[in-house]
Amino acid sequence: MEDEIKDFWQTHPCGAELVGDLTEESRATFLDFFQRYDAYRYSTESHILSNLNRVDFSEKKVPEIGLGQGADSEQVARQGGVFSGIDLTEEAVKRTKMRFSLKGFPFDRIEQARALDLPFADNSFDIAYSHGVLHHIPEIRQASQEIFRILKPDGHLIVMLYAKWSLNYLLSILVLRRIGLLGLYGLGIKASGIYRDHLENA
Ligand SMILES: C[S@@+](CC[C@H](N)C(=O)[O-])C[C@H]1O[C@@H](n2cnc3c(N)ncnc32)[C@H](O)[C@@H]1O
Repeated sequence: MEDEIKDFWQTHPCGAELVGDLTEESRATFLDFFQRYDAYRYSTESHILSNLNRVDFSEKKVPEIGLGQGADSEQVARQGGVFSGIDLTEEAVKRTKMRFSLKGFPFDRIEQARALDLPFADNSFDIAYSHGVLHHIPEIRQASQEIFRILKPDGHLIVMLYAKWSLNYLLSILVLRRIGLLGLYGLGIKASGIYRDHLENA
């Protein structure tokens, strides 16, 4: 199961399809991509940035579980957090390291690892951060225990999880998106990228 989840995120780096993914590996391409990605992310979900801005990360040791494109990772570093992060995929690790290097932000460790087996010492972090990740992990309790293990006794976890019975799930995901997929299928429209894969899954 974990291998399938890893393959999915490795081939569909989180959110990339929304802004046109990277095409070639030049400095300009990466910088332009990160700019487009962050502008899209924080304009469509502005609460992420405003909530991050309410946290005092300064000089706090912060591990992020599940990096994606490293957008929120950068925000933590911008605010003076001592950043570490892991992701299941090499792709997310590569992108996040590239982001930090191009923008000149320091970090402690950014590594490919499993949330179920975090490569960090016990009681070593102040604020763990994980946005939109833990609900993708079937062994969510084990992942939570790992996060608890690496946090200091007075540490905090900032987490975003989907709420299964939210209006977003019941209306948008369960009904509207499925109607959209049915429409694409019924009309024989050839979707591409992640939408083609969703169609095949459906
Ligand atoms: C929906 S994306 C969220 C990424 C980012 N936090 C964001 O908000 O855009 C989920 C990320 O979690 C990672 N992930 C999924 N399962 C994981 C696991 N067991 N251990 C570590 N990372 C995992 C995926 O590779 C992917 O980058």
